Amino acid sequence: MKVITSVTQMHAVAQQYAKDGTLGFVPTMGYLHEGHGSLIERAVQENDRAVVSVFVNPTQFAPGEDLSSYPRDLEKDLAFCQSLGATAVFHPEPNEMYGPNFAAIVEVPSLTVNLCARARPSHFKGVCTVVAKLFNIVAPTRAYFGLKDAQQFFILRRMVLDLNFPIELVGCPTVREADGLAMSSRNSYLSLTERKAAPILHKALEEGRALILAGEKKRAPIIDKIQRVLATEPLVSLEYVELVETLGLRQTDEITGEVLCALAARIGTTRLIDNFIFS
Ligand code: PAF
Repeated sequence: MKVITSVTQMHAVAQQYAKDGTLGFVPTMGYLHEGHGSLIERAVQENDRAVVSVFVNPTQFAPGEDLSSYPRDLEKDLAFCQSLGATAVFHPEPNEMYGPNFAAIVEVPSLTVNLCARARPSHFKGVCTVVAKLFNIVAPTRAYFGLKDAQQFFILRRMVLDLNFPIELVGCPTVREADGLAMSSRNSYLSLTERKAAPILHKALEEGRALILAGEKKRAPIIDKIQRVLATEPLVSLEYVELVETLGLRQTDEITGEVLCALAARIGTTRLIDNFIFS
């Protein structure tokens, strides 16, 4: 497995790969867990070669967020990627990706009004910009993203369509711990007590989903149910729970097509997200 740190070299190697087969790409910020593993496995299975990027992208963190403390373990990540059959890992330094005069921004404004964008208004500009750069550098056939970050997936899907990236975006199911907690690199911030409380996020969403399955179509009772379940856990501080349609990510009062029900909450100081998609 190649480990590449330069943009020029990654671009040249990817061009070579593209000449004789399909290329799967899994963009990550490292500290890889089984959720990332499921994306890498699919990229390896469904393509002739697979590239994983490990880059903690500074532009998607606002001042005061956890950029400096974001967990990192490159050696472990490389061993994990190798064990899953990745062809190459791209691991650039921040100044390799963002030169001193860097000024471009890619954004999808209408999809960055609700959900996580309310509390993190600049986050998705950073995500879109770095993913657009990575797509140009790696030029994959397919790119794999976890649906735990559903808003990110729907925004990137819009970006790929609108900017004509010739890339197939593959959204992959959230991978969960045995007790239902969605896997996330940020779970490592949780204390033991917080970790015990955290599965309530999934449990609350599951109760909301059960209401929908029982025939409820109106937003209010579904959101109310989820809020009431979350309120039973004192360690949870809810940032939002919203029901939106998946094309424009606008709040919907009644389910008529595919919807995303998503939440963000703090358990102690750790901000976690989770969701389900219903179609
Ligand atoms: O989902 C992530 O880990 C990041 O947002 C991504 C897509 C790798 C961009 O930095």
